[in-house]
Amino acid sequence: MCGIVGYIGSREALTVVLEGLHKLEYRGYDSAGIASIEKGELFVYKEVGKVAQLEKGVERKGWKSHLAIGHTRWATHGIPSEKNAHPHLDDKKRCAVVHNGIIENYDAIRRLLEKRGVVFQTDTDSETIAQLIGFLYKGNFLRAVQRALPLMQGAFAIAVVHHEQPGEIICAAQGSPLAIGMGQEEMFLASDAAAFLRYTRRAIYLRDSEVAQITQHGVEVFAADLTPIEKESEDLTHAIEEVTKGDFQHFMLKEIHEQPQSIQNALLARFSKEYGTATLDNLNFSDQELQQVERIVILACGTSYHAGLIAGQMIEEYARIPVQVEISSEYRYKNPIVRDHTLAIAISQSGETADTLAAMRELHEKGAKIMGLCNVQGSTMAREVDSSIFLRAGPEIGVAATKSFTSQLVVLSLLALKFARMRQMSAQEGIHFIEALEKLPQQVQQVIQVKNPIAMLAKKYAAAEHFFFLGRRYMFATALEGALKLKEIAYVNANGYAAGEMKHGPIALIHETSVTVAFCCDSFTYPKMMSNLMEIKARAGRILAIAPEGAPDIEGIADDVIWVPPTLDALSPVASSVAAQLLSYSIAFERGTEIDQPRNLAKSVTVE
Ligand code: M6R
Repeated sequence: MCGIVGYIGSREALTVVLEGLHKLEYRGYDSAGIASIEKGELFVYKEVGKVAQLEKGVERKGWKSHLAIGHTRWATHGIPSEKNAHPHLDDKKRCAVVHNGIIENYDAIRRLLEKRGVVFQTDTDSETIAQLIGFLYKGNFLRAVQRALPLMQGAFAIAVVHHEQPGEIICAAQGSPLAIGMGQEEMFLASDAAAFLRYTRRAIYLRDSEVAQITQHGVEVFAADLTPIEKESEDLTHAIEEVTKGDFQHFMLKEIHEQPQSIQNALLARFSKEYGTATLDNLNFSDQELQQVERIVILACGTSYHAGLIAGQMIEEYARIPVQVEISSEYRYKNPIVRDHTLAIAISQSGETADTLAAMRELHEKGAKIMGLCNVQGSTMAREVDSSIFLRAGPEIGVAATKSFTSQLVVLSLLALKFARMRQMSAQEGIHFIEALEKLPQQVQQVIQVKNPIAMLAKKYAAAEHFFFLGRRYMFATALEGALKLKEIAYVNANGYAAGEMKHGPIALIHETSVTVAFCCDSFTYPKMMSNLMEIKARAGRILAIAPEGAPDIEGIADDVIWVPPTLDALSPVASSVAAQLLSYSIAFERGTEIDQPRNLAKSVTVE
């Protein structure tokens, strides 16, 4: 799970590639590396850590070149180390490879090559690609790559250079995205076109099994048997978005603060108050098709999955359509049953999450229509689904999803409203729902205004090592999301549970040092939640509640309360989540962790 970039042309290739790598750092930041060829000699430089480290090292070297490939890594096979960083070389050091994906049969290939005397240097699956190509190379570079490809199983996007072919880069893709940017007498390649958008907007995307031979003058694409393929180039229209932290110490904090605006953007021109319904733009489904939907399958991972759980609850409650919410990485291996009139909704901030893409492709092949909810225009999801709805949250740089989550909730609420109004919800109820949606930006702003008291609470609780996040109904998935946030940025053991499940086992872990963050904004289950909290209190557990202003009893039960503005149960995850984001952020801050780029993670998970 990594980002690859390549350039060939008259600019300073190392600079262009380094720039591109910075743009792709969301795909991993364990190590970075670069290879180039100058005067027939192959140069490779790698650093553990971020692209900025690599940049400093490359500057010191003072190399100049018109061709380069680069890589930013999220470690899958082998620890993050200089040795395991890409580019990888064949053992004669003639060719260099950068790879995004996983070669599943790497061990078999490695053993086969070792038997033939090839000496491996790293612990990675990716080195087998370089070694295989090196082994198969008999003077024809393109042919060597083409012969290697069918031997490799798994997902990959690769770029390869060979010191005997200093004027070309060969690349190929199988299940991982690869865009080739076409400039004037210069060519680019990258896992994500964002890496080269400032230079060119004309691009082609490689499909599975295609191989491309790129020179300064253009690109030739071939099928697996090297038959030439004519490919139409696309004009990429999405905006280049440059973002800075502004006055904030972290992107995450800035993105939390952006939520009143991002929620406003998600709502903009997407409802008709007069008719009490949603008017989602550019939906490629007719009202008749939506009316015929009999079952919905929601696919997502991580935070997006939590948004999916909340949406599932909402669509069932308001539209009475059965919804199955699935973790993509599980669903893709279930051999799903798809009946007529099934709609799949894939949710992904990045639109690049490998498991979600694979699950949605599986459903697509079985005849389901796919609606994609994502934040990134031009992403693989946006290009592949039958219809996209964009979150309009703007670039989210912090690894922890914040504003994209609340935007997902808002857009999914609109979708639930649309389905509900096509079925049983009255116009009056629709208007009431819209009025509650309209209040969200202001309510989120109110929560942000109590960030200082939340930071004080964080000081009180930051040393705890065991947290429970509990909720019921709409607050259950909200609790899961709160726990995920604390885990990923503060490195604290935080377990999200349905509050009613505690007595079935987990309550054994409650004692005077454990902290329970209690999400109390679901009015329907509020009395039950209070009983569950009494059970925790009876076992001396500490309780920090997030509750709607004016809620009864909670002050007598919890040690501390963060008050949030009341709203409909279905919309209450929004303000509660913002409070939980601020709490996690402040705890992480107290604990001194690396908030925007936490250890072991990447913003976009492009491998299984
Ligand atoms: O881009 P996606 O929404 O598909 O990403 C899914 C997860 O990787 C992501 O939500 C992850 O869980 C977040 N880092 C959590 O904050």
